[in-house]
Amino acid sequence: MKIESGIKHYNKSIAKKIIFVSFLLSSIFTLFLTLFQTYQDYNFEVEAVKENVKSIKVSTLNAISHAVWSYDEEQVSILLKGIFEIQNVNFVGLNSKDKISVSFGDKVAHSEIISFPVYFKNQSENYFLGDLIVEVNFNDITSHLISKLTITFAFQFIKTFFILVVLLVIFFRYLIAPINQLAAYTSKLSLENLMAYDKDFSKLAMQEDEIGTIARSIDQLKTRLDVDIKRNREIENQLQATHRMESLGKLSAGIAHDFNNILQGVESAISVGERYNEIDKVKDSILRARPFIERGKNLVDKIFSFSRKNANKLAVIDVIKIANDTFDIIKQTMAQDLNLTFTSNVEKCFILASPANIHQIISNLIYNAKDAVDVMTGEIQINIQESKASNEVIIKITDNGCGMDQKTLDHIYDPFFTTKDPGKGTGLGMSIIYQLVNEMYGKIDIKSQKEQGTTITLSFPTVVIEDNVESEDSSKTTNTENLNICIVDDEQDIAALIKEVLELRGFKVDYFSDPLEASKLFTSGNMDYDVVITDYSMPNLKGDQLCSLIKEHHPKLPVILATGLHEPEQFEGIPYDSILKKPYTDDEVIKTLDIIFS
Ligand SMILES: Nc1ncnc2c1ncn2[C@@H]1O[C@H](COP(=O)(O)OP(=O)(O)O)[C@@H](O)[C@H]1O
Ligand SMILES: [Mg+2]
Repeated sequence: MKIESGIKHYNKSIAKKIIFVSFLLSSIFTLFLTLFQTYQDYNFEVEAVKENVKSIKVSTLNAISHAVWSYDEEQVSILLKGIFEIQNVNFVGLNSKDKISVSFGDKVAHSEIISFPVYFKNQSENYFLGDLIVEVNFNDITSHLISKLTITFAFQFIKTFFILVVLLVIFFRYLIAPINQLAAYTSKLSLENLMAYDKDFSKLAMQEDEIGTIARSIDQLKTRLDVDIKRNREIENQLQATHRMESLGKLSAGIAHDFNNILQGVESAISVGERYNEIDKVKDSILRARPFIERGKNLVDKIFSFSRKNANKLAVIDVIKIANDTFDIIKQTMAQDLNLTFTSNVEKCFILASPANIHQIISNLIYNAKDAVDVMTGEIQINIQESKASNEVIIKITDNGCGMDQKTLDHIYDPFFTTKDPGKGTGLGMSIIYQLVNEMYGKIDIKSQKEQGTTITLSFPTVVIEDNVESEDSSKTTNTENLNICIVDDEQDIAALIKEVLELRGFKVDYFSDPLEASKLFTSGNMDYDVVITDYSMPNLKGDQLCSLIKEHHPKLPVILATGLHEPEQFEGIPYDSILKKPYTDDEVIKTLDIIFS
């Protein structure tokens, strides 16, 4: 079965070529050999006839001259008839000058004429009596030989054919079939499945002949290649990990910088509030902390967009958002003089990619551009264009920095290639970018000249997502006042503050900082809460377990999961009614309650 499929697959197989060439050559060879042999036979027979005729000179010519000399016409006739009966003689005639003229047979075109002068020797005189003309014709030799040629050729042909068939069967059995098996096997091999074996191949590798040697060599090569590939993958993974650490270092620096600024804002707002005695001024200064808290929330959102647990997996993501978040974080750490801009012709654009990879690629390209430009005059532009015509998104990172010479461009994707001072560059950025872009079905192109700046263009195929417009009816409000709320949060200070603010908004609130204590209450059955807001990450009993426990005993009691984790996948399967993302405001709690109780 396998051999057959191999043969079918190889249209120009060796077997076919051998059959065709050997059949053609042996036919031509047989034809020439037979022709040559027949030609030899012809010459041989013709010579034999001619010799026969020439023997007349010795055997009969003397008798003829005597008979002619003595006018014995009858004797002449008898002698000439004798000559006429020699094979292939079609005409014999005597042209005597004035004495006797006798002839037998007819002249035929294309015959060979052999003439013998007839002399009579009388005492010492030689008398010329005329010419004896003998005509020989080889037509029957030719036709005989032609039929012989045809038969010989046919026989030779059949013989050659049979020998060839036998040879081919042997050839096929011991050479072509194993070669076909080898070919079929090697063509099935892929880098992902290098160590695959099949029965036929294992058999071949055991053969003690050249085919066996080839099969064993293939096997050895495969094993070596497999080891190399695995080692390469390991190195690649190590490189990626190293580089991720490098990127993470830069990212943390950016976040820390931004976070400190945010904390500074909150700290200052509170300090100002502390110094005032007038309640309005205190309120005002506290409110001035809000924008910083918003900034903090945004920052965390941005970090989450490319650092969540599944951020390495390929998924349909909005590349504009990830690029923009990356840009925002990096911008915080860059020197203020540096002109860093982000533009895009669309608000959203979806591609199949991993958020962590996109972040890593863009941040690295920006860092490279940053290293290339002059701090005072540097300009770095990130521009994203979606091309509907080609269904791709094109991300351009342009800088007006030092640019690159041809040598740098030639080696830019080599791991560890760097032109930077030790400690400033690892030379891993571009090689990993190249790899990541390829993994995400993208392309990368670099245009750069020494002192002329650099433009790096990335392109990725876009994914079309249908807009499902979720219209949230926000006008609907329900009366959620007087609700009895239970808060469960292991951070007592936070729980107490939330209780306080919700009480100030008119709710009745209790809190538990020990989730086990709360769980006892819910299992005992004696409780009169209308809704529970529980933290997700808590010691002893996690939010999801508490959720399940509450739903088991009070299926109708709404539970809101409050969490600082922003990964929806993590909450799959938990029987919660709504989620509150930490940090949340009292307004957000009320909005959530409105939705639950509407
Ligand atoms: N935007 C750019 N402008 C000029 N040179 C660049 C730019 N991007 C990369 N390069 C060159 O490519 C080299 C390799 O870059 P990369 O792989 O990121 O390693 P590293 O930044 O650690 O040196 C850099 O050392 C630099 O010479
Ligand atoms: Mg770099």
